[in-house]
Amino acid sequence: VPLGFTLESRVNDEVRLQARSQADVVAATAADLVAESRRAQLQALVRSAAQAARGRVVVVDRSGELIADSAGSAELGGSYAARPEIRAALAGRRFQETRFSKTLGEDILATSSPVVSGGRTVGAVRVTQSVAAVGRAVRRSVGGLAAIAGVVLLLGLIAGALIARQLARPLRRLELTAGEIAHGDLDRRAPVEGTSEQRSLARSFNEMTERLGRALRTQRQFVADASHQLRTPLTGLRLRLEEIDATPPEEPVGAVAQDVEAALREVDRLSQMVTELLLLSAAEERDAPAADIELGEAVEAAAARWGAAAEERRISLSVSRDGTPATVRCARVDLDRAIDSLVENAINYSPDGSSVALVARARGVEVLDSGPGLAPDEAEAVFERFHRGRAGRAGPSGTGLGLPIARELMRRWGADTAIATRDEGGARATIEFFPTVEEEPDEH
Ligand SMILES: Nc1ncnc2c1ncn2[C@@H]1O[C@H](COP(=O)(O)OP(=O)(O)OP(=O)(O)O)[C@@H](O)[C@H]1O
Ligand SMILES: [Mg+2]
Repeated sequence: VPLGFTLESRVNDEVRLQARSQADVVAATAADLVAESRRAQLQALVRSAAQAARGRVVVVDRSGELIADSAGSAELGGSYAARPEIRAALAGRRFQETRFSKTLGEDILATSSPVVSGGRTVGAVRVTQSVAAVGRAVRRSVGGLAAIAGVVLLLGLIAGALIARQLARPLRRLELTAGEIAHGDLDRRAPVEGTSEQRSLARSFNEMTERLGRALRTQRQFVADASHQLRTPLTGLRLRLEEIDATPPEEPVGAVAQDVEAALREVDRLSQMVTELLLLSAAEERDAPAADIELGEAVEAAAARWGAAAEERRISLSVSRDGTPATVRCARVDLDRAIDSLVENAINYSPDGSSVALVARARGVEVLDSGPGLAPDEAEAVFERFHRGRAGRAGPSGTGLGLPIARELMRRWGADTAIATRDEGGARATIEFFPTVEEEPDEH
């Protein structure tokens, strides 16, 4: 639309300019032709000028009398002096205006120029054009322009619709997959397709689903394990209570006391198991505040906590530093709980009178004992929840949650927990912090 408007005004300007220059050219040429003897040439001149201007061209002499007319000789000799444009031109001025022509009954553009010879005005040239014709030409051009604009718009719309469909298709499929996943089908994966952003979105989406699925599976496994494990002490407890119930009142008190003691042991086991289960499930969610901890100091504190327990079994508990122990960033409670699990095992599964060593190293902590060590291929299995190994089954009662808790707690601080049999006998349990990126040895 704006293009149409500018086009119209430009065409109008162009037409006016052309009419003016046409009038000027005819006026300049006509200066030599106004003489009576050269009228035929003057007539030829106005004819060709009229063709070029697509209008009518006339020449009048000094008195305003028509001496040449492109429309024919019918009006020759008539006086045009009264016409405003002729009057202006004969006064020596160039003139242009749009006015209504009574003769033609329509608006015309009248342009005139004086014919000057030897410094005097000897006549005038007038070019008249139909404004309606110019308007028609402009409308034709604007119409063409509108048609082109329409075609371009249509092509744009078609291209836009195609691109939009192309863009929307991968998203729609992603949405479909999301819907299926929401309905519980966690094995569904979104197709990786479309633009690079859409492919990246699909990959992230699939990764998220994968993690969700894994989390859900562990959760289910955990609940299944926990309920299964809790059933054992509960059954034991029920058995004891039934026995107490069945004991006739005249029985000596000692017989009942034995059952009560056993029942209390089962209750202890049960409550320990519940505590550890809660700790384990919290370890997956809790965010304890981090602090900078020097490992040597952490190990000394652990030795202090376990001193009495070790002494009871005449186990010598030693603390040492190998090199410069690292200062690590993690939650104090998590690290203490993990070290405690390892030390507790070392004391529990070592024979009376043996020794347990706690070592703080540059990358982590080591707990060495001289117990039975681990059965072959037990090193990973003991990190499964509720798994009790060879030493565990032979030793004091436990839940099989100590090592899994230690590993779970330390993993979130970038450390791994492991256990293995030492060559010289006994077990070596370790907490090792992974090197952070800045510490990574330079490969060059
Ligand atoms: N220092 C060790 N020497 C030999 N075996 C060990 C040692 N530490 C752990 N184990 C084995 O790994 C198993 C799992 O240990 P974990 O600490 O997870 O459970 P637990 O000691 O049996 O019970 P609790 O949950 O009470 O600690 C133990 O049952 C034991 O067989
Ligand atoms: Mg243990």
